[in-house]
Amino acid sequence: MQTIYTDLLVVGAGLAGERAAVEAADAGFSAICLSLVPARRSHSSAAQGGMQAALGNSVMGEGDSPDVHFADTVKGSDWGCDQEVARMFADSAPIEMRRLAHWGVPWNRVVPGKSIYYKGGKQYDKVEKEEKEGLIMARSFGGTAKWRTCYTSDGTGHAVMCTMDNRCAEVGVEVHDKTEAIAMIQDGDVCYGVVARCLRTGELITYLSKATMIASGGFGRIYPNTTNAVICDGGAHTLCIETGVVPMGNMEAVQFHPTGIVPTDILVTEGCRGDGGTLLDVNEKRFMNDYEPDKAELASRDVVSRWMTHHMREGHGVKSPYGEHLWLDIRHLGAEHITGKLREVYEICTSFLGINPIHQLIPVRPTHHYSMGGVRTNRDGAAYGLKGLFSAGESACWDMHGFNRLGGNSLAETVVAGGIVGKKIAEYLEGCETTFKTSLISDVVKKQQARIDALVNGTNGSENVYKVRAAMQVALNKGANIFRTQAGLEECVATLQETLIRARNVGLRSNGKGVNPELAAALKLEGQVKMGLMVAYGALQRTESRGSHNREDFPARNDRDWLNRTLAYWKTPSDSLPTLEYEPATEVVEIPPGDRGYGKSEIISADDNKE
Ligand code: FUM
Repeated sequence: MQTIYTDLLVVGAGLAGERAAVEAADAGFSAICLSLVPARRSHSSAAQGGMQAALGNSVMGEGDSPDVHFADTVKGSDWGCDQEVARMFADSAPIEMRRLAHWGVPWNRVVPGKSIYYKGGKQYDKVEKEEKEGLIMARSFGGTAKWRTCYTSDGTGHAVMCTMDNRCAEVGVEVHDKTEAIAMIQDGDVCYGVVARCLRTGELITYLSKATMIASGGFGRIYPNTTNAVICDGGAHTLCIETGVVPMGNMEAVQFHPTGIVPTDILVTEGCRGDGGTLLDVNEKRFMNDYEPDKAELASRDVVSRWMTHHMREGHGVKSPYGEHLWLDIRHLGAEHITGKLREVYEICTSFLGINPIHQLIPVRPTHHYSMGGVRTNRDGAAYGLKGLFSAGESACWDMHGFNRLGGNSLAETVVAGGIVGKKIAEYLEGCETTFKTSLISDVVKKQQARIDALVNGTNGSENVYKVRAAMQVALNKGANIFRTQAGLEECVATLQETLIRARNVGLRSNGKGVNPELAAALKLEGQVKMGLMVAYGALQRTESRGSHNREDFPARNDRDWLNRTLAYWKTPSDSLPTLEYEPATEVVEIPPGDRGYGKSEIISADDNKE
């Protein structure tokens, strides 16, 4: 069996992982990224609309600053975020955007006279202020006071991912693709790397590292309907959960994006609404301005997704063989804009729906999109519980998003957090000497080989992997969706507990040890159901509504009792429920809890008397 040594091992080769690896390599350390797919196919490349940074270049961004960006982010999070982290992020984002330009990202730039300005589906009178030719342009996104989302048409993630991967090649970061981490090598105190499986040959490979970073993106595929790629299955999260000592933060905070297309749930960007697109109901009537007179379609995502669902519940949805939906209308933006700045949306509509969005309405519905929760880290990106383990990007709960992330803040977070955490990892590696314990390593390898043998030889059990996975997805979709109730969550938890027992008893229909998607799925299934239980059980305990976590039976945000972050552990592998602990949401309070300015707000404040 092959053993590979490196200073930094990154599980994931998306933007956060590669950005951190570049930082470590620049400081003279060796860095390897493991990836399920070629790096440029990482899910970061699917990000469309852009990255928020307060450059203030566009006319509509005038007066913007990191302070305004910080305030928008805190309000967006519904006061659930760590304000010190949100501050670090907002201050660093403009620097990272300019660095990306220097590295080669072809940002859209200001072209005087060419910008179109819409509000409420109506084109503004031409803005009379001077436009500064050639500066990085920004578009409008939800929940923001200024236009601040920097973009490359609607293929921003693709452009930045290619640039970052080029940078990795330049500084000597290695990417080992088609390689999946299946277990962590750790002794309860320190992380020493992972055991990985080659997805082509099935060979096990030991990666030993002084620092290990989880940068594997989100875990949306535990839901059945999601904008997430099939690789966003939370496999790397399961490694952390199985340690018993590394907690996940705020797993109940799950984001639903307003505009997944029906029926495939592929994303069409918030940039459509940012650029002036509107949402229409079955009567082709615009409705968001009735619910949110100020922000309309550009309130934050949790708010827009809730109103869309409410509007369909009230009988205004469009019936289709694939369930109810609403319409996204971008026709008024015109052919030049749609085939230029929204060209991916144009291609998605023509290729996956067979419609032309220049002339036709796009069928959309809210769909799972983002995980605010993840591997809980401190401000340096160091995971709780194990020395030498780090995380950044969507896989982490750092935690700048709290209970609702603003559109455009995640792609920006990948490079900002990747840079900050990469620097901290380089500092950690400086002078770090690690002794690798051979008996520990061989125990982990033997255990993994035994798991694989039992699955392939049919001695583990007979439950069908795909049926068990579908049972988990259906339970979460039903009980832990946009609107939640005690009864729904109790049923979800009970179903997931039964599903966990089934997940421990799966058997394969195939017996290949090499390329075998069923085996790969089986190896992570128990961990995924545990993750699902962290989502549902955390949501059941949180008796308030905050950001994307909306309890119909507890509609108020309750700062008196719940201004905190959930930490979920799986203390013993055979447990049937996670252990939950809580910590304050933020130590530093620059902006005290208040009204967000959109979304209906019932707030129980910290000063309200306890009953
Ligand atoms: O709608 C979008 O373009 C998605 C952006 C994001 O999730 O930040």
